Amino acid sequence: MSRGPRASPHKSFKGVFWIQDGRRRNLATLNLVPGFRSYDEVSVVVNGKEYRIWPPRRSKPAAAILNGLKNFPIRPGSRILYLGIASGTTASHFSDIIGRKGVIYGVEISQRVLRELLPVADARRNIVPILASARRPEEYAHVVEMVDVLYVDVAQPDQAEILLKNAGVYLRRGGYAVIAVKASSIDVTLPPKKVYRLVEDRLTRGGLKVLERVDLAPFDPKHAMIVAKK
Ligand SMILES: C[S@@+](CC[C@H](N)C(=O)[O-])C[C@H]1O[C@@H](n2cnc3c(N)ncnc32)[C@H](O)[C@@H]1O
Repeated sequence: MSRGPRASPHKSFKGVFWIQDGRRRNLATLNLVPGFRSYDEVSVVVNGKEYRIWPPRRSKPAAAILNGLKNFPIRPGSRILYLGIASGTTASHFSDIIGRKGVIYGVEISQRVLRELLPVADARRNIVPILASARRPEEYAHVVEMVDVLYVDVAQPDQAEILLKNAGVYLRRGGYAVIAVKASSIDVTLPPKKVYRLVEDRLTRGGLKVLERVDLAPFDPKHAMIVAKK
């Protein structure tokens, strides 16, 4: 007799699940808005609950978790400042995890891209879209409060500076900064590991404690995720 898919909670990260279907095992989050699709994700219903598969080739934190990330600070109730939220692919999974008591302040510089986020934010109700440049944190001071997590994925050469500027204003003491680093957007001439070390050194000099770095290959070659604490 063939068995249907099974869901089990991730042992370390609340709100993150494994879906086992035959020999396939995928990461997933529980859909905060059952029946609503935030992008073209795959949904699986197990025991009446709708899970959304979290694909590591589309979303860097999923790649980091599959590659053994130990510090994943996004949990039910988290307040997050997300720089470079784009149309919300990754943010939709964060939104599932943080639930109704959490909030994501999502900063995006491109109006065209942010427009795609609006229906997602509308349905989910825990995402606040902000059209602004993350280089100018003072511009969203009227909306954003102190947060538990600062998540940075802007793919810009000065990402570390952008992170520190925002951490200085919005990240609470003891909060976490998570940055997705694309080596080639910082320096194409250097080996990726050297670029990651430069970013880590900059964060350390900026007063953060670097806890961990996870390479995102093979899902996202020449990318890494760095987690630091304030
Ligand atoms: C790699 S994409 C983000 C993908 C998204 N984090 C996800 O996983 O679903 C980088 C995004 O950062 C935005 N961006 C670039 N520079 C920015 C800035 N200075 N302020 C805010 N957003 C910026 C880009 O428009 C783009 O949408």
